[in-house]
Amino acid sequence: MDSIPAPNPTPLQNLEEWEDFVKEVYPEPGKSAARPFQATDPEKQKEQFRDYESDARPTVREFYRLNHTYQTYDFAQAKRKEFLSLNRRQMGIWEAMEYLNQLVDDSDPDTDLSQLQHLLQTSEQIRRDGHPRWFILTGLVHDLGKILCLWGEPQWAVVGDTFPTGCRYSDKVVFPKFFQLNPDFQNAALQSENGMYEPGCGLDKVQLSWGHDEYIYNVCKDYLPIEGLYMLRYHSFYAWHREAEYSHLLNDQDKQNLKWVHAFNPYDLYTKSHTPPDVKALRPFYEDLIAEFFPGKVRW
Ligand SMILES: [Fe+2]
Ligand SMILES: [Fe+2]
Repeated sequence: MDSIPAPNPTPLQNLEEWEDFVKEVYPEPGKSAARPFQATDPEKQKEQFRDYESDARPTVREFYRLNHTYQTYDFAQAKRKEFLSLNRRQMGIWEAMEYLNQLVDDSDPDTDLSQLQHLLQTSEQIRRDGHPRWFILTGLVHDLGKILCLWGEPQWAVVGDTFPTGCRYSDKVVFPKFFQLNPDFQNAALQSENGMYEPGCGLDKVQLSWGHDEYIYNVCKDYLPIEGLYMLRYHSFYAWHREAEYSHLLNDQDKQNLKWVHAFNPYDLYTKSHTPPDVKALRPFYEDLIAEFFPGKVRW
């Protein structure tokens, strides 16, 4: 009997390919007219969306096909059980940054920055703009959840825009047609507007698809203020923070903190420059900042 092949763990050449794609979908305001969801006429909107999909690289398309097919409610729940007991190892924050830095991919000539440099560029821009220390630190740690890749997790279970599982999919999530391949799509109870949730229950009760956001939120949840935790947990939830979808599930706390997720997003997407930050010179500042909020060892 033929067995079903396991889904390709690495459809993308590297993780940046997904982030570059997100940046194309959501270009910096004023920099490009290519944003696909601008039209108010629903038919026009669909047209723009289709254009957009057809422009995507085959690797990115395949990445989304796998992500939308395999990120079921049960999958997201099983991954929470597997990883959120945080009993894999104990590492300080700087140590985790160096650990993540093994994820360098030098096969892509466009990506000359390491993971550590992306984190420092993000936090340095936040610092230059005069934001509070917890905000700078949030920028520094925001992608540390990508260490999941080093533990054998497939790309489509680490990055990608996140979306609620257990209720109807928004068609503002990119590549919505691939949701038809998700087994939950066939389950009517999981495809009503609220699905398994009460209206207004709050995002904390909503199980988003699994990825680096939920993981780093859990690692940091005892140490950073709620505003920073919202940035960590929802920075890839574009259907909410850029498309204003899923408002029926929000509670007051979510509505209050959306502005912080908005405040963070430009630093994540638009601070990549080719000038690498001076890691050695910056390290003392960041070691002090880390020590102000985190213990020497953190559970991962
Ligand atoms: Fe991220
Ligand atoms: Fe990032």
